[in-house]
Amino acid sequence: MVYAANPNRYEKLPYRRVSDSGLIVPALSFGLWRNLGDQMPLANSREVILTAFDNGIFSFDNASNYGPGNGTAEETFGQVYRSDLRPYRNELVITTKAGYHMWPGPLGQFSGKKTLVNALDLSLQRMGLDYVDIFYAHRWDPETRLEETAQTLDLLVRQGKVLYVGVSNYTAEQTAAIAKIFADLGTPFIGNQVSYNMLNQGAKNSGLLDILDQHHAGLFAYGPLAEGLLTDRYLDGIPDDFPVHQTNEFLFKNGKQALENKLRALNDLAQSRQQTLSQMSLAWLLQDRRVASVVIGASKVDHLLGNLQFTKHPDFTQDELARIDEILA
Ligand SMILES: NC(=O)c1ccc[n+]([C@@H]2O[C@H](COP(=O)([O-])OP(=O)(O)OC[C@H]3O[C@@H](n4cnc5c(N)ncnc54)[C@H](OP(=O)(O)O)[C@@H]3O)[C@@H](O)[C@H]2O)c1
Repeated sequence: MVYAANPNRYEKLPYRRVSDSGLIVPALSFGLWRNLGDQMPLANSREVILTAFDNGIFSFDNASNYGPGNGTAEETFGQVYRSDLRPYRNELVITTKAGYHMWPGPLGQFSGKKTLVNALDLSLQRMGLDYVDIFYAHRWDPETRLEETAQTLDLLVRQGKVLYVGVSNYTAEQTAAIAKIFADLGTPFIGNQVSYNMLNQGAKNSGLLDILDQHHAGLFAYGPLAEGLLTDRYLDGIPDDFPVHQTNEFLFKNGKQALENKLRALNDLAQSRQQTLSQMSLAWLLQDRRVASVVIGASKVDHLLGNLQFTKHPDFTQDELARIDEILA
């Protein structure tokens, strides 16, 4: 059946400008990291992606290595783009990244010129695109001169393959260093995509949000639900084989029990706000205008639709914020 997007899609979710740039993004972006690769039936992936778009999520986040299986998430997105979303290209903010392991050999990772140039070409082919809206250097490269990485991203903009550039997983100091080079080159630097959620507030505490703001860039918060910890999924206990992301490993430093107690206390607060824990977690991130967009992941349509309901109660009282700080202390 020919897909026709919901005509009311822009009334469902707030969107915001990234700093004072010309780029506007939805409050929530949809990421294809580990749930929509080749292990998921295409019909399910298509349903989730189109449900996101129909509900105001017009930004989709990919990376060369997403899948599982390198390139398979971009291939999935490419199939849905070709069959359904192509007529909406002007409305879509499509982002991808390169830098984690992408193909065999020493040139298949990090941020040298040859690696970034080839990775982007492969991403464009897989997704069936002429350009991406944001291209990120996916991680800090300890060996390549920062100027080379910045100049390559700048070149890709000048070639018309990329509209804005970003970095991902860069610390506050690393972000400041590359932002200065971008400013000298005149490169449209749009932001840093980092792990940020109620349990993991490093982006705020390290000064990263301030640095981005000073450079007219925004923060794109990934992993807002901490691999599902900030949902009602683990309130009765976190399994021993819980697949924690490296950025959230520290959450277990006082043991599983301590973390479970925090999750239950946060859930009680969410319920007092007539919200689920995941809805409160998304609302909490979006209180800060320097957070340009929160990048969520879901393979189940029900999860996606439930999370979108955070818009019913986006604000917090001072008492609620103080209670969250108390629980997390
Ligand atoms: N730049 C980077 O290095 C980097 C790293 C990690 C992620 N990212 C980006 O951020 C995106 C999101 O990351 P993430 O997947 O960690 O995000 P997340 O939204 O924090 O967590 C997604 C997980 O939470 C579950 N979930 C979502 N809503 C739920 C609900 N209402 N109830 C119960 N479970 C729920 C999902 O389960 P189901 O699948 O069962 O729906 C999924 O397992 C990625 O796709 C990627 O685009 C970037």
